[in-house]
Amino acid sequence: CETRHVGEGFVDLTRINLSLFLHTRLYFLLEHVPLKAPVIAAHRATMSDPEGGGESSLYTPPPEVRGMISLDREAFSRTVTVPALRVQKEVLGKLVKSLKKVALHLPGVKRVLEDDDKHRLLLLDPTRVSSPSSFGETETQALEKLGVPLELHSHELRLTYGNLKADEVLRAVLPEGQDVTSGFSRVGHVAHLNLREHQLPYKNLIGQVIMDKNSGVTCVVNKTNTIDSTFRTFQMEVLAGDGNMVVKVRENGLPYEFDFSRVYWNPRLSTEHERVVGLLQPGDTVMDVFAGVGPFAIPAAKRGCNVLANDLNPESHRWLSHNCRLNKVEHRLRVFNMDGRAFIRGPLREALPALMKGTAGIHIVMNLPALALEFLDAFQGLLGQEPDQNQSVSILPEVHCYGFSKEGDPSRDIVERASRSLGISLDGHCSIHMVRNVAPNKEMMCISFSLSKDVLFSNVIEAPKRQKCEEPE
Ligand SMILES: C[S@@+](CC[C@H](N)C(=O)[O-])C[C@H]1O[C@@H](n2cnc3c(N)ncnc32)[C@H](O)[C@@H]1O
Repeated sequence: CETRHVGEGFVDLTRINLSLFLHTRLYFLLEHVPLKAPVIAAHRATMSDPEGGGESSLYTPPPEVRGMISLDREAFSRTVTVPALRVQKEVLGKLVKSLKKVALHLPGVKRVLEDDDKHRLLLLDPTRVSSPSSFGETETQALEKLGVPLELHSHELRLTYGNLKADEVLRAVLPEGQDVTSGFSRVGHVAHLNLREHQLPYKNLIGQVIMDKNSGVTCVVNKTNTIDSTFRTFQMEVLAGDGNMVVKVRENGLPYEFDFSRVYWNPRLSTEHERVVGLLQPGDTVMDVFAGVGPFAIPAAKRGCNVLANDLNPESHRWLSHNCRLNKVEHRLRVFNMDGRAFIRGPLREALPALMKGTAGIHIVMNLPALALEFLDAFQGLLGQEPDQNQSVSILPEVHCYGFSKEGDPSRDIVERASRSLGISLDGHCSIHMVRNVAPNKEMMCISFSLSKDVLFSNVIEAPKRQKCEEPE
């Protein structure tokens, strides 16, 4: 912010535009003649009130910025005049405390300025102080006690684009009355927006503003389609920045790297990843059927579990392998790149008989919420062909399977669908966890249950499956 101390900035009252006058509060230096009074131009603006007293108006960008398509930062500059107190250096600290309700609070603006060797200027909020009588009783007493003259000076502040928050800029630019959403998800240095139709003409400006106002964001993208049906990625358009999509993120203390445009990553699942990993003991085996880039598999391996992790997307598989090396867990984690059903019927089935004779826990994680419940039929008769199927089994695998539900009773819906797919009723034999609300009336749920011997050793002949197309999230 540029500030310019102009002493007493007098304005000829005859030149004040009437509408500005109506929105303007005047204050007068007591000793001066009223015809040439210093003016505080209190433009209508929004600025959050630090004392929680609602919105106060001080600075809105000039109206000419409305409709701007290409960002011109200079066009947001405006000069406002604010009242100030001239204060002896020694009492400044005490005075600032006593006047904190009326002192100027603007992001990026210093409210104490040097005047001379012995004095400082304390800038005040013009929406709260328009004349010496604006001070309350305790403020007046503090001023008297500290020997600060009850004289208001005027100070001109040059406020710029840098003093505005992202939503203040966007509210000034986008058509009045239309929704301004500057909300976004952030994955590493990439900010990801989901713009609506009416915001599209301003998309590059919005991207630039988001990048300017959020340190560490160097690329802003907009989702251009619904989630791809197979790999749960979506197409995106770069709105601002370098277009580099290879991100570095941390989740629950562990680092991950991946190309955000080519794999699935959802920062809103970190609590769920942590919850499931919290169920594991060192020495357990985890089989992650839809592993993505590893947010279940890597922390499980870090915890001392042996992990088999699979993903059909070759890019996820590549970054999963990369994240194993990054987290130094290659010795505990084997990665696969195949369809989930083939993984269940292949590497998972091969590992299961020996594991079920042991004592360590076996966990099967299936996080593909739009489809995973339908993959449960792959467990029917999975070990039916095992030569020693009457073996004594000491431990059963625990499945954690995710599903979306739009039903009024999502828990019931998920239990019914899982039971249908598994060919056995799970009613009373499972636990349900509500993960998150994905959209209005759409919940993401996790059902956990033990895979019974009845399911695993049944004589079901595998029927060929037709993959259903996934519903976008
Ligand atoms: C919702 S993501 C979950 C990723 C990760 N487990 C997580 O929690 O963030 C589902 C993953 O399943 C993969 N996928 C989709 N269809 C698949 C299939 N038929 N077989 C195996 N993986 C599949 C996608 O590529 C994606 O990485």
